[in-house]
Amino acid sequence: SKPNYILAIESSCDDTSAAIMADNKVLSNIVARQEIHEEYGGVVPELASRAHQQNIVPVVDIALKKAGITKDQLSAIAFTQGPGLMGSLLVGGSFAKSLSLALDIPLVAVNHMHAHILCHFIDEEGYDKPEFPFLAMTISGGHTQIVKVNSFFDLEILGETTDDAVGEAFDKSAKVLGFPYPGGPLIDKYAKEGNPKAFQFTKPKVDGLNFSFSGLKTQILYFIQKNVAINPNFIEENKADICASIQHTIIQILIDKLRLAVKETGIQQIVIGGGVSANSGIRQALKDGEKKYKWKAFIPKFEYTTDNAAMIGIVGYYRFKESLFADSSVVSKARIEF
Ligand code: KG4
Ligand code: ZN
Repeated sequence: SKPNYILAIESSCDDTSAAIMADNKVLSNIVARQEIHEEYGGVVPELASRAHQQNIVPVVDIALKKAGITKDQLSAIAFTQGPGLMGSLLVGGSFAKSLSLALDIPLVAVNHMHAHILCHFIDEEGYDKPEFPFLAMTISGGHTQIVKVNSFFDLEILGETTDDAVGEAFDKSAKVLGFPYPGGPLIDKYAKEGNPKAFQFTKPKVDGLNFSFSGLKTQILYFIQKNVAINPNFIEENKADICASIQHTIIQILIDKLRLAVKETGIQQIVIGGGVSANSGIRQALKDGEKKYKWKAFIPKFEYTTDNAAMIGIVGYYRFKESLFADSSVVSKARIEF
C-alpha cells in the first residue's frame, strides 16, 4: 500500500525546518539556520520570529520538491506546539494550521522534547531502534532531563536541571572564551586537540537524578578572569586544553547521572537526544559505556541531533497512526508537559 506522506514543521527556537516523511522514513529534512543571532551572542526572540516568517514558505517548498511530492499528496501536517519561544512557535503553528485547513487534512501537535527522544524511531539504515522501556537523556540548549520511556506516549521525567541547561553551560563557557553563539560546537572542535585533564573543575553536588550547571558556569568565568589577569594571552595559548577540560567535566556530570539512573531503574538501554548529543565527546562516552557499564547506547544520526523537522515528523507519524489529531483551536505553548 502507498505510504502516508506527512509534512512536519519545526520552529521552536532559531532554526526554521520542514521535513517530508513517508511513514517512518525521511524523504527530506530542510533546516534554515538563522545566522543573525551570532553577532548578538544569543537568540534574539523578535529577530527569530521574523526570520521564521521569512523562511517558512521557501523551506516547505524545498522540502516538498526534494521529496518529489506535491502538497496535494500530503496526509497530515505535524508541527511543534512547544516548548520554545512563543513568537517562534506561533509562526510554525499558524502556518501548519492554515495549510491543514486549506488542504483539509489532519493537524498533529508535537512536543519538541518528545521529538528529541523519538528521533531514534526514524527508519535509517544502520541505526537500531531501542525497545521499551528505555532511558532517554535529553541534552539541549533549553533542557537537560533524564526520562523513562515506557511506550511511545508514556514518558516519565526522572530528573532535570534545577537551573541552566547543559547546552547553556557549553554556550556560556564559549562566550567567556570569546567564541560566537552558539559556541557548543566550537568547544567540541577545539577540545579534540586538547588535554581533558589539563585543568580541574569541581562537579556540582546535586541529589538524585537532577542536574545543576550554573555553579560550573561561574567557576569557569572566575577561572578565566583570574588567569587572563595574570596572562592576557591565556585563552589563546591554552584554547584546546581549556575546551577539552570544560567538555570533560560536563561529560562526567552527565555520565555520572546516567549510571545512577541505570542503577536505580535497572534499565540498561540509553538513548540521547537534543543539540548537545551532537557533541563528539558525549557520543564517544556513551559508546564506551557499553563495555564499561554494560549498557546499550543509542546515538542519533548527526542530522537528527540539533533542531530539525524530521524528529517532529516521526512523532507526527506515530500520533497520526493513533488518530491523535489536534483540533483547530490548538495553541502554541512556551511550556508543555509530556
Ligand atoms: O536541540 P537544540 O538544537 O536546540 C534546543 O532545543 O535547545 O540544541 C542547541 C544546543 C546549543 O546549546 C548548542 O551549543 C548545542 O546544542 N550543541 C553542542 C554541539 N552541537 C550543538 N554542544 C556541544 N557540542 C556540540 N557539538
Ligand atoms: Zn531542541
